[in-house]
Amino acid sequence: MANTILVGAQWGDEGKGKIIDVLTESADVVVRTQGGNNAGHTVFVGKKKFVLHLIPSGILRMRKTCVIGNGVVIDPVDLVAEIDHLAELGVKVKNLFISQSAHLVLPYHRELDEQREALKGKNKIGTTKRGIGPAYGDKAARTGLRMIDLISPERFASVLRDRINEHNEILKALGAKPLSYEQVHADYRKAGDRLKPYVTDTVVLLHKATQKGLEILFEGAQGTFLDIDHGTYPFVTSSNTTSGGACTGSGVPPNRIDRVVGVMKAYITRVGEGPLPTENPEIADMLHAMGREFGATTGRPRRCGWFDSVATRHATMVNGIDDLAVTNLDGLDSLETIKVCIGYRDGSAKYDYVTADIETLSKCKPVYAEFPGWKVSTSKAKSWKELPVKARGYLKAIAELSGAKLKIVSVGPAREQTIML
Ligand code: IMP
Repeated sequence: MANTILVGAQWGDEGKGKIIDVLTESADVVVRTQGGNNAGHTVFVGKKKFVLHLIPSGILRMRKTCVIGNGVVIDPVDLVAEIDHLAELGVKVKNLFISQSAHLVLPYHRELDEQREALKGKNKIGTTKRGIGPAYGDKAARTGLRMIDLISPERFASVLRDRINEHNEILKALGAKPLSYEQVHADYRKAGDRLKPYVTDTVVLLHKATQKGLEILFEGAQGTFLDIDHGTYPFVTSSNTTSGGACTGSGVPPNRIDRVVGVMKAYITRVGEGPLPTENPEIADMLHAMGREFGATTGRPRRCGWFDSVATRHATMVNGIDDLAVTNLDGLDSLETIKVCIGYRDGSAKYDYVTADIETLSKCKPVYAEFPGWKVSTSKAKSWKELPVKARGYLKAIAELSGAKLKIVSVGPAREQTIML
């Protein structure tokens, strides 16, 4: 399969979990490199539904090495709960390796996330409130705690006390309840003892894997336009969700990467605030009425709209996408006409890329091309030929507009509902 980075080409929730699961079959190692438990990757194995937040999807297949890389931020208490939940569902978490350099999400990060969102009022970002931004903030400010600290009891105790005292001052100033050092210490040390057997130097582990010629799949979380540098800032998450983040977040250098796969829905969705030029309430109502498009982590209804090829072309540029996986084609099955955004317009100005000027982007109006709908169910199609001609035409057009090769089409949540081209 070669070393492959998989990224979301839109605003997250592109159906990456399922595509990763399908690609994992031919990988040896699956690595998460950024984000934290703000992610929610849904995978169906038979009728069983799994929602993974921190653990790479490779855990659902036999004999795959799963790595949580240095670029991830880890809430250790939540990670233990995820391991236990998987055990209840019959999945033994073996072959998991956690980077000793990954930073911790602490209860004061979650509290700060909540308080800052409340303070922003109508300008809020709409975060998942998992403490992701404040945890990455501490990492950048060099005041974070890492997995290596968590599993060193004395070091953890002394540093944590100082950090809790500092953060309690901030929390008090914000009118929030201060945290009890004893409680946090007890909860985190307990989690630390459970996680210790998994913690290692994953950079060396991955280097050895590449030397042995093992194939690595880098499991991206969130999507291109939630990237801290390339997304619709400030309405973004706090990590590099684009392909470069896979290298910095794992320690595997760029010259060991063979291809980049971009995952995109056949339409578009977003959760949280911020611009979404092709947003369309009617599409949202249709998809929600079908029971689709509710967030895997927070359950929030997602905002929905028409496929935006300006955005996906930009994503191809920023990530170096070679191959495309289009998901949720079946969501459009009932439509008479399907629109695709082929450009943005703001007054007399035209844009064929996603401008970094958020005010301009918010004013941009989409320019649409129209495609005829196929109006039959695609969910049972097993091959390209079994797809309706109009659906094939639509897929070819959106891949061409996005500037990469169409390689995978997904017509439902099950592993079998995947067409490889
Ligand atoms: P945070 O990552 O919780 O700080 O949230 C920042 C923004 O990213 C918000 O708009 C969230 O809704 C969005 N976000 C974070 N994680 C995901 C995800 O896994 N899928 C989709 N959106 C996400």
